Amino acid sequence: MAAGHRTMNTTATPFLKWAGGKTRLLSRILPRFPDHLGTYYEPFLGGGAVFFAMAAAQRFDQAVLADTNSELINLYRVVRDNCASLIRGLTPHVAKAKEPDWFYYVRSLKPAELEPIERAARTLFLNRTGFNGLYRVNRRGEFNVPFGKYPNPKVLDVARLEAASRALQGVELRCADFAAVAAEAGEGDGVYFDPPYVPISATSSFNAYQAEAFGAEAQEQLVDTFRCCWKRSAIAVMSNSDCEYTRELYRCLDVEVVRVPRAINSVGSGRGRVNELLVVGPGSADSVSVSTTSTRVLRVVSS
Ligand SMILES: C[S@@+](CC[C@H](N)C(=O)[O-])C[C@H]1O[C@@H](n2cnc3c(N)ncnc32)[C@H](O)[C@@H]1O
Repeated sequence: MAAGHRTMNTTATPFLKWAGGKTRLLSRILPRFPDHLGTYYEPFLGGGAVFFAMAAAQRFDQAVLADTNSELINLYRVVRDNCASLIRGLTPHVAKAKEPDWFYYVRSLKPAELEPIERAARTLFLNRTGFNGLYRVNRRGEFNVPFGKYPNPKVLDVARLEAASRALQGVELRCADFAAVAAEAGEGDGVYFDPPYVPISATSSFNAYQAEAFGAEAQEQLVDTFRCCWKRSAIAVMSNSDCEYTRELYRCLDVEVVRVPRAINSVGSGRGRVNELLVVGPGSADSVSVSTTSTRVLRVVSS
């Protein structure tokens, strides 16, 4: 194969580090969807681990990906439509990736004053060089993650970006709320919901992706949205943390407990394995009990 075509067979995988990325849970999530879907919806896109895996396995005809983070959606659109320009735009950042002054200068730039390609390069650079790949903003919506101090941050991965760009061709990318996007799913479609998680402790900040946190009202609306997808005969799957609140919130739904390595945690000692919930079905009116001893399905349906 000619050198110029060397990257053609690279399978697309996430090009961002993203808190709550689902790469390690793919073996539990993917089998929950039928072999082939009409439209695949991922309304909390983040790093898009499930989308890239579904795309690599050619499991859908079309995909609609959404997130309320406008910087993230701009970046995905630029990767889809202007990948070569993004690669050129990232090049000046590569040599300065270990310099804190450069990081804080780029962080201080106002996205609204930049062109889409520069904005996308800024977002990707900050993601690769910022602390733990976190995306966190202050009340004014300004990105405020500190410098990550990585010895060798990989700011530019050409093969990965080009593979992602190919996987994103023809994919619809929306900056939108989850409910509006999921409302379109119907028979033959699939939806994977990966919301900001309910904090498992007071210090946990997994719902602080945006200036406005994803609170109890949003979590409840998400349950309604999940049920509505199933009512319209779409296959919906949803992740969340395993805590008293989510067990109560999902008590009538079909839920599996899954054990996952926690990769991103601002407290080093908090790393390790944690339980998460994977909601795999709508439950039914005849649900009678909840089994907390089972490690698989929490809700037991009467026969
Ligand atoms: C847990 S992350 C998704 C992780 C992703 N599945 C992955 O594998 O990397 C949650 C995402 O939801 C987005 N988000 C927060 N509130 C939202 C809302 N109301 N509607 C849509 N997206 C939202 C955040 O910007 C964040 O990117």
